This record gives sequence, structure tokens and C-alpha cells, in this order.
Amino acid sequence: MENVVLLAIESSCDDTSAAVIRDGVLLSNVTASQSVHEEFGGVVPELASRAHQLNILPVVDTALKRAGVQKCELSAIAFTRGPGLLGSLLVGTSFAKGLALSLGIPLVEVNHLQGHVLAHFVVSGLPSVVSGPQPKYPFLCLLVSGGNSQIVKVHSNGKHLPQMEIIGQTIDDAAGEAFDKCAKVLGLPYPGGPWIDKLAKQGNAKAYTFAEPHLPGYDYSFSGLKTSFLYTIRDLMREHGVDTIEALSERIPNLKEDLCASLQFTIIDTLMRKLKKAAQDLHINQVAIAGGVSANSGLRTAMEDYGKRYKWNVFIPPFSFTTDNAAMIAQAGYFKYLDGDFCAIDEVPYAKTRIA
Ligand code: KG4
Repeated sequence: MENVVLLAIESSCDDTSAAVIRDGVLLSNVTASQSVHEEFGGVVPELASRAHQLNILPVVDTALKRAGVQKCELSAIAFTRGPGLLGSLLVGTSFAKGLALSLGIPLVEVNHLQGHVLAHFVVSGLPSVVSGPQPKYPFLCLLVSGGNSQIVKVHSNGKHLPQMEIIGQTIDDAAGEAFDKCAKVLGLPYPGGPWIDKLAKQGNAKAYTFAEPHLPGYDYSFSGLKTSFLYTIRDLMREHGVDTIEALSERIPNLKEDLCASLQFTIIDTLMRKLKKAAQDLHINQVAIAGGVSANSGLRTAMEDYGKRYKWNVFIPPFSFTTDNAAMIAQAGYFKYLDGDFCAIDEVPYAKTRIA
């Protein structure tokens, strides 16, 4: 099939993103992030959907212009149907439907989580992004973001869109949530993951130890770690007779850096141990990471180390395809387009769903 041009729209949380892909080559990927949530220390759903309404038109317009594509050239529109915040998803979904209806072209609905995994298949036509090698089926993908932490087995089913199966997942908080909530305790801005990553580079990962869960199989749990982090700080405050993290920082040199390094070490150790077990048990040596937390420098280094030690072929996405972006939705949408998998105009977004 030739000259397939797709516009993809992603609006599942607090990033409004649009991308254009022609015959499997990414021509543009434009994202507007929302700073409105920073002062609240987390995403405020109502504010997110309002910001999407303001951003969506200029973002789509810019994506089309950067790709050098006219609306009349589009073959279909792909959009994130879920999971995510319903108010946010409604903006992208309604926009996609309206545009597809007005142009008389089909719609392709995309599962956001599948999009994250398929970021590894994006062939970048952008000068700023170099695509890496693509994993071969079957492969394992550690999908770690603000809302999800799971190990996914990806295998071929004869179609373009591969089959995805959850091998293990968090039973409570996601890894990104643990990063963000612990960062909030330290008084760091939202989202806290990148801040912890930055401070961890100047800290001692062995300075503090936190409770690590011991769940059977490949499942994760991060809520106990969060509590353990909180209690460590509470106990230090009692010991030093202070009641704020800032006052404690004045008493203990390098406190925040050491706490960040120790926390990051514990999260990565937890993630990697289960991933290693899954790879060994299933005899799979193609191992990938995806999702916002895959931007973490410690996790990326750990993947490289494990790759060398256990002879894995490791796949790490370019930074711009780790956090929410429409490039990955375009890729998933392109596979579904080739499979002839279109959706009806009356399909509604969903807040929760599994990857398959
Ligand atoms: O995939 P994503 O953009 O949104 C969801 O679908 O959840 O992931 C956002 C998450 C946030 O929790 C953020 O703190 C985390 O990814 N994150 C990081 C880093 N960059 C983003 N966590 C740790 N280290 C980073 N460098």
C-alpha cells in the first residue's frame, strides 16, 4: 500500500500532541505540554481538558505544516482512545472525529499503552531524532509511566499490529507515580521524575535503604516504597528536631541528592529484577523499555548493563518518544491502517483498559 498519510492525535493526559506519518516514515511530531498543573503538584483533570481545547488546533496545524502535508492528502486520522483522563481524551477524540467526518476519511483508534510499546518501530524522518534498531518478535517490553508499570510480551500474530500480553504489572502505584509522589515530599516541582533523575546524579545510592516488596511472579508494588521513603524523612526530622524538609537539608549535607539517588536505585533495582526473571523464564533476549520513566538515565544505564551481563539485545527509545507523544500513536495507527482496522464514528473514549 503506497502513499498512506496519517495524522495522529494524542491527548490522554496533559500533553497535546499531533504527528504526521507517510508510508511509515514520521514527518512531524509536535507536542504542547501544560505548565498549568505545576503549582498543584499533579495533573488537574479539568484544567487539562481546557488546555487541550486551547492547544489542539495550533498543534495539529503546526504538525501538518512541518510535515508539508495538506489536509486533503490525509488517508486517515488516528487518535488515542484510552486509557487516560476522560475529559482530556474527549478533546482529542472529538477533534479527530470532526476532522475525519469533514474530510470523509476513516478513523483509527489507538490504545495509548500499545502506542508506547510501538514507539520502538517509529522510523524517524525528523533531523532531530535518530531511530534505533527495531526489536524482533517476540520481545519483552518494560512499560513504565506515570500510570502504568508492566512487563509486556510482544509477539507476532501475522498482522502488522503485534499481539501484546501482560506478563506482570503493578498491584498498586506505578513507578512514575512513586517518583512523582516522593519528589513532592522533597518539595520538588511536578512532574518529579526528571528532578529526581537530575539530583540522583550527585547523590550516594547506598546512603538510605527503603523497603522493597517481595511479590511472587512478575508483579510490582510501589506503594510500600513511598511510605518507607516518607517514614525515613519523618524519622530524620524527629532525630534532628526539625519539621520541614528544607530545615533538615540544612542539617544533613547532600540530603536531597542522597535520598534521590537511593530512591532511584531502589525503583530501578525492583524493575530490573523482575524483568530479568521474565526474560530468563521465557527465554527471550530481546528486551525493551518504554513510557515516561524510560527517560530515566539510571534505568537506561541499567538496561545497558543487564544487556551486557545477560546477553540481551536492548532497545531504548529516543527521548522524544518516551513521554506522551503522537509519533507513537501514528505508528500504532499506521499498523492498524495496514490491517484495515478502522473504527466507527460513534466509538467513545475509555478511561481504563488493558494493553490487550
Ligand atoms: O508516559 P508519560 O509521559 O505519561 C503517562 O502516560 O503516564 O509518563 C510520565 C511519567 C511521570 O511520572 C514522570 O515523572 C516520569 O514519567 N518521568 C521520569 C523521567 N522523565 C519522566 N521518571 C524518572 N526519570 C525521568 N527522567
